Order: sequence, then structure tokens, then C-alpha cells
Amino acid sequence: MSRIFSGVQPSGNLHLGNYLGAIRNFVGLQDDYECIYCAVNMHAITVWQDPEELRNNTREVAAAYIAAGVDPKRSIIFAQSTVPAHAELAWIFNCVARLGWMNRMTQFKEKAGKNRENASLGLYAYPSLMAADIMVYKATHVPVGEDQKQHLELTRDIAQKFNNDYGTETFPLVEPLIFGAATRVMSLRDGSKKMSKSDPSDYSRITFTDDRDSIAKKLRKARTDADPLPDAEEGLKDRPEAANLVGIYAALANLTRQEVLNEFAGAAFSTFKPALTDLAVEKFGPIGEEMKRLMADPGHVDAILREGAERASAIAAPVIDEVKEVVGLIRP
Ligand code: TRP
Repeated sequence: MSRIFSGVQPSGNLHLGNYLGAIRNFVGLQDDYECIYCAVNMHAITVWQDPEELRNNTREVAAAYIAAGVDPKRSIIFAQSTVPAHAELAWIFNCVARLGWMNRMTQFKEKAGKNRENASLGLYAYPSLMAADIMVYKATHVPVGEDQKQHLELTRDIAQKFNNDYGTETFPLVEPLIFGAATRVMSLRDGSKKMSKSDPSDYSRITFTDDRDSIAKKLRKARTDADPLPDAEEGLKDRPEAANLVGIYAALANLTRQEVLNEFAGAAFSTFKPALTDLAVEKFGPIGEEMKRLMADPGHVDAILREGAERASAIAAPVIDEVKEVVGLIRP
């Protein structure tokens, strides 16, 4: 059987990169798979989060899923902290994963920065909790952005080592599902950096809560170069900002980058940016509005999260029992 798991961190400023790189792709998968979509709030606290904001941001991730078209009847939507089996399996995985493996994780190196000694132990163990998220449901496929591939490889390594060490076939080997033209949406201010919730500049990202005016303003100010758009993809090679905007257009319009260039070859950014603004407002605007509408009724979102937690727990419970049995951990 095939089962999908994916998660988004509730750390605020949900943006176009989260939408195009992840959330949008969750929707279509519902037709072919059993899908479990999580607001990974325990991952969020690997760096400091204000408690009240964390609660609100957790709801916001759920609202974003629903607004984007995830159907809470068909799919499971829940918050990580409401299913304790994630934390339990993460501990067991901490004892399977090797320090050498963790030391290779590029996301840790990026997030910890220069002051690694001062990073939380949780940030270091982050990928092991992510592996537990996936494996506690024996999920087979995970839709993610390009940047999460390394974590999925680690998940496979942990699963394989667990199976080997204990001589079992407890865990499947998970496959990443990576989609489309904008799996990596870059900052509007610097085409070499990922669009990020933590960039100090608001102009670096388009968020779910931006209205038409701010989408237009941010795209107008988006960094570009002076040349017109090329007629072929090779022409975007050393032009990260141009490549990013073309990628965003392609993703929003469900076209390839080449198809976008077929339409805009030779156009200046003064022509392309307004076209991109219209498209972004048309495709992304209504989702942000629906999210805001859902956020105005937190009781409704909370009820969905509660029901999701029950359904998720029902799948996770026999898996964590099986794992404890295999490991020799006595159960309550
Ligand atoms: N690390 C993922 C990210 O930053 C979020 C995440 C946590 C996740 N657990 C997961 C994604 C499990 C997929 C599956 O995007």
C-alpha cells in the first residue's frame, strides 16, 4: 500500500515557496494515495518560538492546507505534538542514527550558522524526528522540496539500519516526490537564497496574507538584471533572479520554464513583472483569502486538527507497539 506523509513547520510567515514547493502538491496526491499532512510544531521549536504565536501558526498551517485544497475528510490534517508516537519513535531513531550521519546534514549547518555550539540539541536531532514522522506511519512517499532530499535519504538510512540491526522488515524505504518548475522558490531580493520566513526583509517573500497591492509592490521591487528575457532556458543560467521569476510564473501557470520563455522571449521586466503580478494575484490570492477566512473561525480548524489527531494516532499506535516489541522496550 502507498501512503503519503508530509509536513510544514508552523514558524510563521507562510510564503509562496511553501505553497509552490510543498502545499500545492499535496492536493493532487489525494486522488491516488492515503495522505497524512502534519503541522510539525515540534520541529518548529528547534529554534525559539513565541508560545502564543506558535499556537496560532500551527492553526495557520492547517488553514493553509485546507485553503489550498486539502480535503480534511479524505486526508488527515493534524499537529505533530498531538500524536506522541512521533516523539517516542524519534528517541528510538536517535539511538539508531550515527553522529557521522547527522554531521553531514546541510540544513543543520545552514541553520546553526557560525555559532554551532549554541544551537539546540533539538536542531541537531531534527532529521531524526523527521524520519520518525514518516516512519511512524510507514509512509512510502513524501512530497517535498528539493532541499529536503538529504533528510529523506537519511530517513532511508535510519530505516535500513533499524531493519538490519534488529533483523526485521519493520520499515519501508521511503521515496521522495519532487514536483514541477518551482521546487525551489528563491528570495525576491537575492536569487541565490531560498525564499524564507526568517529573511529580515518582507520584500524577499510573498506570503499567504499578502493582498493584491502588496503582491504587486513586492514583485515590482523584486531584484532583476537589465536584460530582456532570453528565448531559451540556457539564457537563464547566470541570471538567478530572472530564473526565479520565470520559475514562479511557470509553476503558477502550470507551464515549463521554456513555455514561459516562448511567450516572453525578448520582453523587458517592465512587461513581465505586471504579467506575473496578475497571475500571482489570480492563483495565489484566493488561497490566502480562504486561509484568512478559516483563521477567523479557529474552533472549526481546531476541530479538524482534533479529528486528524485521532485518525493519525490510530495508524501510529500499532506501529509504535511493533517497534517497542522489536526493540525490547516493555510497554505500559
Ligand atoms: N523538514 C521539513 C521542512 O523544513 C518539514 C518536515 C518535518 C517534513 N517533518 C517532515 C517534511 C516529514 C516531510 C516529511 O520542509
